[in-house]
Amino acid sequence: MLRKDLIITIDGPSGAGKSTVAKMLARVLNYTYLDTGAMYRGVAYAFMKEKNPVEIDRFLRNLTIKFELKEETRVYLDGEDISEHIRSPEVSRFASQLSQNTKIREHLRVLQRKAGKSGGVVLEGRDTGSVVFPDAHIKFYLDADLKERARRRYLELVSRGINSEPDNVQEEILKRDRNDSERDIAPLIVPDGAIYIDTTGIDAASVVEKLQEIVRNCLLGG
Ligand code: DC
Repeated sequence: MLRKDLIITIDGPSGAGKSTVAKMLARVLNYTYLDTGAMYRGVAYAFMKEKNPVEIDRFLRNLTIKFELKEETRVYLDGEDISEHIRSPEVSRFASQLSQNTKIREHLRVLQRKAGKSGGVVLEGRDTGSVVFPDAHIKFYLDADLKERARRRYLELVSRGINSEPDNVQEEILKRDRNDSERDIAPLIVPDGAIYIDTTGIDAASVVEKLQEIVRNCLLGG
């Protein structure tokens, strides 16, 4: 590798394989991995913990959340590791709703830009190539058909010990897709200049190989 400072973004709907692939790609490139969805989930979890209705500005001012960028993006609220708690279906649902709030998005966007601006980073989410880093060196958009995305999400929940029904998971994914794509602010779109990859029927290792080849070509080309 000639350059170690690329900014690479991976966007796409839930269950498209972004997290698995982004993590693997960051590892082979020896880059930092940033799961922006974990940030939205962490903030959603914190908001759900509020006992009384709270105004967003005040909530953000008092929020003591930390993100640790390791193999996974780990999330700490008031010093407690909440990285597993944020994966529940309830948090998934609420994160999708809360992420429609402009102030929450602005707040997290600042942190995401700060974490990624020096490069050597793979960011993954819904708007990392369209809004957070529209000038990223390489932008990917991963997709897969609904059934496969639901199957992957179901298996992920099972592996985390979370009980669920395959049909419900598919329904939830559809709802979240709609929320994430139809919102006014930073909706899920294929960013300008993004490379679209349909991962249906392709295993994660093969997808990573494909992305790596594109990264290699980009590095060789300039
Ligand atoms: O990728 P994920 O499923 O962990 O993301 C959880 C929610 O967070 C998702 O439904 C929408 C929101 N999100 C977002 O709005 N923008 C991002 N860049 C990442 C996630």
